[in-house]
Amino acid sequence: MKTDLERKFQEFYQHEAIASYYTPGRVNLIGEHIDYNGGLVMPCAVTLGTWLSIAPNNDQVIRFRSLNFPEESTIPLQTAYTKTGPEWYNYPLGIFNEILKEKELTQGLDLLFVGNIPIGSGLSSSASIEVVMAYALNDYFDLGFSKLELVLMSKRVENDFIGVNSGIMDQFAVAFGEKEKAIVLDCDSLKYRIVDCDTKDYVLAIINTNKHRKLSESKYNERVQECQTALALLNQEIKLNNLCELTAEKFALHEHLITDPVILKRATHVITENDRVSAAAKALNDGNLMDFGRLMYASHHSLKELYEVTGLELDTVVDFCEDYQHVIGARMTGAGFGGCAIALLERGFEEDFKEKLNTFYTEKVGYAPTVYITHIGNGASKI
Ligand code: GLA
Repeated sequence: MKTDLERKFQEFYQHEAIASYYTPGRVNLIGEHIDYNGGLVMPCAVTLGTWLSIAPNNDQVIRFRSLNFPEESTIPLQTAYTKTGPEWYNYPLGIFNEILKEKELTQGLDLLFVGNIPIGSGLSSSASIEVVMAYALNDYFDLGFSKLELVLMSKRVENDFIGVNSGIMDQFAVAFGEKEKAIVLDCDSLKYRIVDCDTKDYVLAIINTNKHRKLSESKYNERVQECQTALALLNQEIKLNNLCELTAEKFALHEHLITDPVILKRATHVITENDRVSAAAKALNDGNLMDFGRLMYASHHSLKELYEVTGLELDTVVDFCEDYQHVIGARMTGAGFGGCAIALLERGFEEDFKEKLNTFYTEKVGYAPTVYITHIGNGASKI
């Protein structure tokens, strides 16, 4: 990918790329919609990602080009930027805006991106492009930001520049991921553990429902708001900074404060999902994949019934997996409302699974899903 990209760079810009960088996408194994509630999550980086080649120019502009999109842009060096529209380059432009809050940039840059994460599929293509840009600027100009600072910066781009009130999980996972490891991240303290992710006789399958969703247009921000409402109600009796400070037992003592049944469902998901992540980390550590798989299904059901972020497409995939004897666990991953599911599938049954799921899904949904057998890869790096 690097050589191809650098060759294209030369073709487009008529000069050589000086440096190239890579940042992956991610899947979340369990712990969904709780990062913005200070909960525990368990993502890992995948081997799909975004590559970026860069070189300086003497024109006092930033040139954004991508091999994936026809839109390109040439933007003069300024001291701040605002979002210009829906185009892909707003994500890296947001990173320039964040960096400029703390550092001066006087050198123009030519940039060429390429990625193989299916866009809008819930595998964090946006976090991947944000972090690759932040990582590249930090390295190229030797700006001295820590990796965590780059992650926080990228999250601010998502929240303030793009307008999605998402949590820290995606940017953290794509920056800190490690080959064959999962990250157990406490989204309140940002303390994390890198744990072995040995799936033994099983492979991690990603099933793209091919139902496109756009986070900023979805009900994501509404869910964030509903959690804040639950928190405010609980805070009438106890002092909490976020919902995930509550155990299920403690929640039972105070849940009477939430009289709206919808808000109660949302809070119940958050609190039980947080407990499931601790249980899943233990199961993985004990090598008990069966338990891990059961927790994946339980997570999906909670996201379906209580958090209501699944939908026909994701539920059809998980329904199929529950009846297919060579899968031991499956769930939606990421924000939901379409996008991808993941499944622990017995090695050797990849083709059979694809074929049977394809028939089942197409009959119910009207078009086919795409199945990828993934590997857990490394996080952001210079290449
Ligand atoms: C999206 C957001 C994350 C997280 C997940 C749901 O991927 O970007 O911060 O909230 O949804 O777990």
